[in-house]
Amino acid sequence: MKILITKDYEDMSMQAFKIMKKVVTERPCATLGLATGSTPVGMYRLMAKDHAENGTSYKKIKTVNLDEYVGLDRSSGQSYISFMHDNLFDSIDIDHDNINIENGKAADRKAECERYNRLLESMQQDIQVLGIGSNGHIAFNEPGTPFGSVTHIVDLTESTIADNARFFNDPREVPKQAFTMGVKNIMNAKKILILASGSNKAKAVKGLVSGPVSEDLPASVLQLHPDCTLVCDEAAAALLEQVRD
Ligand code: PGA
Repeated sequence: MKILITKDYEDMSMQAFKIMKKVVTERPCATLGLATGSTPVGMYRLMAKDHAENGTSYKKIKTVNLDEYVGLDRSSGQSYISFMHDNLFDSIDIDHDNINIENGKAADRKAECERYNRLLESMQQDIQVLGIGSNGHIAFNEPGTPFGSVTHIVDLTESTIADNARFFNDPREVPKQAFTMGVKNIMNAKKILILASGSNKAKAVKGLVSGPVSEDLPASVLQLHPDCTLVCDEAAAALLEQVRD
């Protein structure tokens, strides 16, 4: 795993943006695996700025998002598809037909998981962006999720519900279930870019980098990926004993 430790969140976002821009420039029809959450927002802002100022085009880019809350879709401001429109898609020239995410309101949830798995099989991510949960989850693959998992529905843990409550007016509104890509779908990406910021991620980042590879800390599986880069700020890197890049 390549590790880049940055001074702060802004610098983390800039380093992540540079990696993303290289992929988009080298392969204008790339498939980008994208993530929601606070962590990638700075990188998305830089992508939008770069599009506006330098004309970097996303016209032929395809995207696959990691996860979506069960029961929410574009009509809800808290859905992940709305988050992606607000934070990136509406600020770049992506063709909206090329945006892919699980349908949180699918009537047949099992069929929706199967549809998404077939889709992922047909379009390998050139890069997959990830955040990391304070409990070491990647996407909504909570501790204990099998490494062989594909898209499925999860019951969110209390710690994840508490972490995500800040996005909702009332913590009781946080959905209790989500669709998520499985660990195997994530590991299938050609390149992985995992971002972490803040001291609340330090323990999970230590497990990601140097803990045993174990389903108890899903992010640790990334130690087995041939092309994974961690970009994290000093606060998130506080427990690492690694030499800095
Ligand atoms: P965050 O979430 O970026 O909002 O911290 C990361 C995650 O839970 O994967």
